[in-house]
Amino acid sequence: MKKRTLLIIPILLLAFLLYSFEKGRIDNKNVISTPNLDEQLEHKVDSVLALMHLNEKIGQLVQYSGSWNATGPSSSIGDQHKLDKLKRGEVGSMLNITSVASIRETQKIVMENSRLKIPLIFGYDVIHGYKTIFPIPLGESASWDLDIIKQSASIAAKETAASGLQWTFAPMIDVSRDARWGRMMEGAGEDTYLNTVIGVARIQGFQGNDLSETNTIAACAKHFAGYGFAEAGRDYNTVNIGENELHNTILPPFKAAAKAGVATFMNAFNEIDGIPSTGNKVLQRDLLKGDWGWNGFIVSDWGSIGEMIAHGYAKDKKHAAQIAMNAGVDMDMESNAYEAHLETLLDENKISIEQLDDAVKRVLRLKFKLGLFDDPYKYCNEEKEVSEVYTEENLAIARDVAKKSIVLLKNETNILPLLKDIKSIAVIGPLADDKDAPLGNWRAKGEYNSAVSVLEGVKNAVSNTTKIYYEKGVDLTVPTVKPGENQFLHPLKFNTTDTSGISAAVEAAKKAEVVLLVIGEDAYQTGEGRSQTNIGFLGLQNALLEAVYKVNKNLVIVLMNGRPMDISWAANNVPSILECWFLGSESGNAIADVLFGDYNPSGKLPVSFPHHVGQEPLYYNQKNTGRPYSPRHVTYSGYTDTPKTALFPFGYGLSYTTFEYKNLKLDKTEIPKNGEIKVSVEVMNVGSMDGEEVVQLYLRDLVGSLTRPIKELKGFKKTMIKAGETKTINFTINSEMLQFYTINKTWEVEPGDFNIWIGGDSKAHLKTSFIVSE
Ligand code: NOJ
Repeated sequence: MKKRTLLIIPILLLAFLLYSFEKGRIDNKNVISTPNLDEQLEHKVDSVLALMHLNEKIGQLVQYSGSWNATGPSSSIGDQHKLDKLKRGEVGSMLNITSVASIRETQKIVMENSRLKIPLIFGYDVIHGYKTIFPIPLGESASWDLDIIKQSASIAAKETAASGLQWTFAPMIDVSRDARWGRMMEGAGEDTYLNTVIGVARIQGFQGNDLSETNTIAACAKHFAGYGFAEAGRDYNTVNIGENELHNTILPPFKAAAKAGVATFMNAFNEIDGIPSTGNKVLQRDLLKGDWGWNGFIVSDWGSIGEMIAHGYAKDKKHAAQIAMNAGVDMDMESNAYEAHLETLLDENKISIEQLDDAVKRVLRLKFKLGLFDDPYKYCNEEKEVSEVYTEENLAIARDVAKKSIVLLKNETNILPLLKDIKSIAVIGPLADDKDAPLGNWRAKGEYNSAVSVLEGVKNAVSNTTKIYYEKGVDLTVPTVKPGENQFLHPLKFNTTDTSGISAAVEAAKKAEVVLLVIGEDAYQTGEGRSQTNIGFLGLQNALLEAVYKVNKNLVIVLMNGRPMDISWAANNVPSILECWFLGSESGNAIADVLFGDYNPSGKLPVSFPHHVGQEPLYYNQKNTGRPYSPRHVTYSGYTDTPKTALFPFGYGLSYTTFEYKNLKLDKTEIPKNGEIKVSVEVMNVGSMDGEEVVQLYLRDLVGSLTRPIKELKGFKKTMIKAGETKTINFTINSEMLQFYTINKTWEVEPGDFNIWIGGDSKAHLKTSFIVSE
């Protein structure tokens, strides 16, 4: 109580500000300006804070979902309660409200009823496009093309902002190494460096240079932290990792995101070593807000404050709210714990007014940056919502990103590229004419059945003399989710039994020169709550594959999937395999671009493909162990029935041309800890087609105060090399690439021997070494 009484003093001191209210609204223009921009912003934030009553402060930390589109177990709070809270200015943010009309209507409730009229910020999961759908993040990461990744995020931002929203819950920058985990589709895969640079590119794409522009939105680095390391790939599960793994593998993308100025962070459902991430003070308050000096706000994951009760970490919601506030969580997404308990916790001195004020200021700061105080309806423009969303121009960019995300896994007999005037082609499989699956999960406002199917893409590409035979063959799933229904309420069913379409597929395959077999996963097989132990072809797809292969060996598998799959049989038998992920709105056209050679594939895997699911978690940058593989011994740290290594390794991907690497040179072989080495390598295109190659640089620190991985990606360059041309690619090795989080719990370069490899994948053989001296 005493603390609240104290609040009156600053309110009185700043009471003169009330005079400058124009029709009761706080306006940028009405706040005293100072020469320094940051100072000016802080001043505005402080001025607003000083006017706020406790209920309004707590309100800023409350986020509700529009109940008609929940993305998690819905809270018990009813619509009338939400409406009343909105009217009283006791809500800071809404999620899952889309369309300019709905956002305007909701914002109006606050602006026309609440005392201070502090605008809401509207958030939504725009993960890979708003209505123009881009490849799923894992797929797009296979492009290793930071410019197009940034461009795809900026188009998504433009469409999102044109539709009235200001905030996306993306990018997910969880390093993930277990193919069983359904959410692997949402990130950049298994490698820390790749997640770091791609995460930053996505943040820059979403946020642009100026958050107050109406074509940029606030981004959210998630899930802080460790979510991608869930035990055995089971979603939401326990994470047991030590500090070394946490700091060296999981945190670097987050640190880079904070440095890049990401507006918000979202915490995570999982616990790490007994502490739920949502209640982890060391991570959130001490490291992120303290050591890293980041001044954005942390939103909880959906209901994750309340979930600390089920974790056995909080005895009730009040306790959970106390833990979360102390840990540094600023906004409560759908736990309804802050709204119910922060006031009492303050009275009982279990949280402090400084903590609360700091959280509120962080939220207000972003609202100012977005320009919402200038105009709460700034993003609400019905004309733009039509003219800037799902445009021809955006679709063309989506096609470009999609074709660059495709990875050619195998092309043994050079079936690909196909001639456009090929006499006949069979397009077979449950996903061949699927116009919905290519949109993948987390498709925001992507419309049901709106993607270009493979069949359509092929039809658009071939000559009018080409005969196309289409057969579905089998169904992938028993349909359970109707268009528009909440997919979280329906588990997928694969127990299809109808084999009657296989014979027609076999007949089509017999007649055709080449067969395209489009198989893989249902769009909703990956995503939240979509972990699986079987990562092979489900349903009757194996039966279809073997039947078709028996009659026509000119077979190309077009894979659609959101995780690395077990495709061993296909990899050993089928001559051509094209990894096409879920490529979004322009999927079929982009696939045709590659199939018919209009684009020479350049994608590289951001994740290792296993021989068998039993190898998971599988990743290239493992530790050597005390028993690395030796051909003379069976007692090594692998398996007796399956190789230890990947079927297709991280960084791997073929082209229609061939690249040869030679002359790896260093300008010196010994440097001090803060020194630099200039590295060059020659890459020659020895084939007959121009093509892009991703030149990858890997390092190994041979002896450390903590054991180091056998190899780590530390740089890459994607470059176009013309047929017959040789290009010299240059890198500079610096201390940032050499350092790691050491036994001293700090980032440092340890002197000693280092190996360096450069090549076209993580198996790169061109190798040399250097020494870092004291
Ligand atoms: C839960 C997910 O874990 C998170 O990534 C998402 O942003 C929220 N739900 C909101 O939908």
